[in-house]
Amino acid sequence: MFDKATVRDLDAQGKRVLVRADFNVPLGPDGEVSDDTRIVETLPTLRYLLSKGAAIVAMSHLGRPKGKPEPGASLAPVARRLSRLLRQDVPLTTDVAGPDSSRLAKGLVGGQVLLLENLRFDPGEEKNDPALAQRLAALGDAYVNDAFGAAHRAHASTVGLPERRKPAVAGFLMQKELTALGALLDHPAKPFVAVIGGAKISGKIDVLEHLLGLVDTFLIGGGMMFTLVKAQGGAIGRSLLEEDKLETAAHFLRRAQEKGVRVLVAPDCRAAASPQGGETRVVASDRVPDDWLGVDIGPESEAQFRAEIVGARTVLWNGPMGIFEVPAFASGTLSVARALADATKRGAHTVVGGGDSVAAVHEAGVASHITHVSTGGGASLEFLEGKTLPGVQALDTRVQAVS
Ligand code: 3PG
Repeated sequence: MFDKATVRDLDAQGKRVLVRADFNVPLGPDGEVSDDTRIVETLPTLRYLLSKGAAIVAMSHLGRPKGKPEPGASLAPVARRLSRLLRQDVPLTTDVAGPDSSRLAKGLVGGQVLLLENLRFDPGEEKNDPALAQRLAALGDAYVNDAFGAAHRAHASTVGLPERRKPAVAGFLMQKELTALGALLDHPAKPFVAVIGGAKISGKIDVLEHLLGLVDTFLIGGGMMFTLVKAQGGAIGRSLLEEDKLETAAHFLRRAQEKGVRVLVAPDCRAAASPQGGETRVVASDRVPDDWLGVDIGPESEAQFRAEIVGARTVLWNGPMGIFEVPAFASGTLSVARALADATKRGAHTVVGGGDSVAAVHEAGVASHITHVSTGGGASLEFLEGKTLPGVQALDTRVQAVS
């Protein structure tokens, strides 16, 4: 259950509010923001604080610059996009919580927004260095974390800072993410179907294990399905295989059977001679010819998966069904995206997490027909693995009125 204090619990009037956002967005070849979803999703929190008369000191990381400035990782394009979206100037500091940040933050008046330069330009950010957390804390009077996508990182801006600057509350995006994902783990409406794909089973096994006690049916596609097929004795040709995970896969299948959880591994697949493209043929997933590899789930799997998804009341989808960035291998992934949209129309709670499946719902044009499209990749996976997210744990718990 979501029990954190939020921006609504904050008396923001006249305060300088530190807002940790996840502006880790993709940049195009022109150096500008190519997908601003994460920025747009933070606007409700920023606009709410501004409407209350607060000034905002926003901060984020971008990329992985390893503790020193890197021109290609500057937040300058984010500052430009944010200025456009908010229709007001958002200056960018030249340092991270240094003299320039301090001077500009002190000069802020209610209604203004300042953006700090990339937090990861400072070596203290990823080490959760107390000195950096203290310098960040000195820039504001209150703290809001809206960076769900970075909540699995125990960094200075996500953990050290909220320990030092109170009140420390959740933003609207953080609240939305935790509520929508939390509904999957906390008494989900049944039947609950989890569609899991992606290249590697090693990245998903903890989620599969954690969801074993919750879901009724797993639908498995993507490269990872072939480790499961092989574990059952199937012939997978040159399809992706994690040899060292065969025993883990077999163990998962045994546990699912013991618990009465259905695991539907895609029964057929589209196979090709190369992962880059070319001719495909539909084959049984356990009879892939020697020189071929599975690149997408097949039409029979699409039909079966669709029937399961539209009949469910809760659906989680994480990971593509094939190499969907190659248009000829995208059919299964797009078909799952459409099935989720149809399930939503029938009243199901549908959640999509993970960068590739999120891109697929956008490509299929159905993002607005999904209950919740998560902005978190690693964070949503760790949440679904049942782990405590340090950035959430560091926030104040809502104090209930005692009658
Ligand atoms: C993400 O893109 O998943 C978050 O911004 C976290 O980024 P990181 O994996 O570099 O910590």
